[in-house]
Amino acid sequence: MIKVITYGTFDLLHYGHIALFERARALGNHLTVGLSTDDFNRVKGKKSYFSFEVRKKMLESIKYIDEIIPEENWEQKNKDIKENNIDVFVMGDDWIGEFDDLECQVIYLPRTPNISSSIIKKSIS
Ligand code: CTP
Repeated sequence: MIKVITYGTFDLLHYGHIALFERARALGNHLTVGLSTDDFNRVKGKKSYFSFEVRKKMLESIKYIDEIIPEENWEQKNKDIKENNIDVFVMGDDWIGEFDDLECQVIYLPRTPNISSSIIKKSIS
């Protein structure tokens, strides 16, 4: 069993997110998503359109995701990796170099071009 983890806000769920989940899941056979809570989004300076509960509900319907845990702070990652027996940590390459010191394999996947929650927000406002 190879267990993979990724983290994020995943607001206004879009095909860039789905492509990340698909590729992350394909690196192993179990994908955990650390979903940023509304409080942690405030710490990150982000305000999501959908609440944590709504974002969680949407992620629960995605076939590539096996488990969802709350992401509540920057420091929890090594604890999550240990407690959930994670082998591979995945993020999009906008985070390249940021997580190299985590206690498992770290992989940065190329972002899907021309789509983000911010782009959607801007284009429909
Ligand atoms: N991601 C991706 N391709 C995109 C958008 C996001 O691979 N086009 C990845 C990010 O690299 C990250 C994860 O999805 O690993 C969650 O990113 P998040 O910040 O929640 O999504 P964005 O759409 O980038 O949101 P924002 O515009 O608010 O930054």
